Amino acid sequence: MNSMIVTGAANGIGRAIAKGADEAGYRVGVLDIFENEAEEVASGLAKGEALTCDVTDPEQVAEVFTKFGGVDVLVNNAGILRTGPLIDHEPADFRRVVDTNLSAVFIAAQAAARIMREKGGGSIINVSSIVGIHPSPNSGAYAAAKGGVLALTQHMSVEWGSYSIRVNAVAPGFIEAGMSEPFYQNSVVRERRAGAVPLGRIGSAEDIVKAVLFLASDDAAYISGENLTVD
Ligand code: NAI
Repeated sequence: MNSMIVTGAANGIGRAIAKGADEAGYRVGVLDIFENEAEEVASGLAKGEALTCDVTDPEQVAEVFTKFGGVDVLVNNAGILRTGPLIDHEPADFRRVVDTNLSAVFIAAQAAARIMREKGGGSIINVSSIVGIHPSPNSGAYAAAKGGVLALTQHMSVEWGSYSIRVNAVAPGFIEAGMSEPFYQNSVVRERRAGAVPLGRIGSAEDIVKAVLFLASDDAAYISGENLTVD
């Protein structure tokens, strides 16, 4: 296992995963829709390569995967959050959330699995969310997509096990990074959250990195179809 593509790696948790993978010795594909930001992250890594594409576009994804030249580990991390009550949610917005958080996981995983099947195996890690398991108000589209990621993970693990491809998910809690950072600028939210977590602290991007690197590694050689909640 020596090459890894991380989607949505220009910011937040994805950027931290790319950095952690680099430190662990992987050649890292820093994939993101934002070219300059992806270049910046990649240039800070020992063996980083920026891959600019929209993960919802199968042609763009296939093109950058070919350019990268072989992938042992794929981390499907790219995602977007749209909040608001379902009763007012615009259907177009709902579709966009499902496209980016769920359909793109299928698109990138399929592209990777075709390469991994030829290579004799690989590992795919899909980043879901705790809201994909436990409902909370005002994130219905996002939660539906993240719940779908967990079902897709299990189906992929069953279908692709015979190719020696392991497929697992990580479901982060409310992490202080990326899309959750604006919420934590409110001290009331911060205190309430820290108080609600039995461990008494808010999770960091590095907490997610460790779980992803474990599932990517041979230490997890007999683990597939699992969801590791990190909350
Ligand atoms: P973020 O917003 O900081 O990073 C997401 C990255 O995905 C960005 O760099 C963005 O440019 C990229 N991206 C978005 N749409 C894309 C597309 N169509 N094509 C290519 N790249 C695209 O978010 P964060 O917080 O780092 O989230 C990373 C993952 O973790 C997401 O899947 C998110 O749903 C999940 N997550 C985050 C939690 C948190 O508390 N931050 C909690 C649970 C899950």
